[in-house]
Amino acid sequence: MLQKRRTFLKTTSLGLSVLATGTAYRCQGKSTPIANVTHPVIISTWDHGMAANKVGLNILKNKGSALDAVEKGVIVVENDPTVQTVGLGGFPDREGNVTLDACIMKGDGQCGSVAFLQDIKNPIAVARKVMEKTPHIMIVGSGAKQFALEMGFKEENLLTEASRKKYEEWLKTGVYKPKINIENHDTISTLALDANGHLAGACTTSGAAWKMHGRVGDSPLIAAGLFVDDEVGAAAATGLGEAVIRTAGSAMVVEAMRHGQSPEEACRSVCLRIKDKHKDISDLQVGFIALRKDGAYGAYSLQPGFTYALGQNETHELYQATSMF
Ligand code: GLY
Repeated sequence: MLQKRRTFLKTTSLGLSVLATGTAYRCQGKSTPIANVTHPVIISTWDHGMAANKVGLNILKNKGSALDAVEKGVIVVENDPTVQTVGLGGFPDREGNVTLDACIMKGDGQCGSVAFLQDIKNPIAVARKVMEKTPHIMIVGSGAKQFALEMGFKEENLLTEASRKKYEEWLKTGVYKPKINIENHDTISTLALDANGHLAGACTTSGAAWKMHGRVGDSPLIAAGLFVDDEVGAAAATGLGEAVIRTAGSAMVVEAMRHGQSPEEACRSVCLRIKDKHKDISDLQVGFIALRKDGAYGAYSLQPGFTYALGQNETHELYQATSMF
């Protein structure tokens, strides 16, 4: 698998420079004109994005909406207790509470979000209900839980035995120094383009492990963790939320695409901006994925190690994003 990822990395980098001229190719001589990707397309952050994409692409291939594809896709990851950074089994905050953040957005500007939600394992589905059933966009904390219960969601303990053990290990030192990478922080963000040319995105996480109680990152924030505009494209983030919020990261990626940058160039531009705003980025990881309205896609991260999953036509593949270092 590692070997496969390295090969993809090389070709993805090549794709960036060629993309500027309009036609790009990726992956071991297999020609895929990125500018003319057949609908539908789905792209997700990290290795667990493969599982999300499988469910999402199936929905898209059956003429389902991009909104259903991203929601049902990320729910697979929220429900997986072995993913300790999303939903059930997520690492708790420093006081032992699992608190979840999520948002969802359609290309027409409709969106919904929940933050600091406890005891409900599918925050993305609650965020969708906020979008569809309330006049609001964001509901947090006990209000979000109350709303979820009213909508019929079940209350349950999200702290699994495995995550509790890791928490107890951490408590022995209790040193909080967020080091963000695949081992301890991997938000799932998913973007999809459906057969009707509509875009949607979803972003869901348990946030940084051992965070301060009440801390909220970028993932539930429209414009930071996720931004979608049918006129241009969609973008989503993973990594240290504070750095993404500081730059309105995902909205900036979409705006860079609006001004003509390719998806990968746009992700890179915002990573550069993040780099310029931080004195020391040695422990800082941020990654973006982007999907343009014509199906062109791209990703970029500050540090190496950021993977993203792509599903289109009959294929599912995992790529290593090009990184700054
Ligand atoms: N990117 C997710 C977080 O920082 O919480």
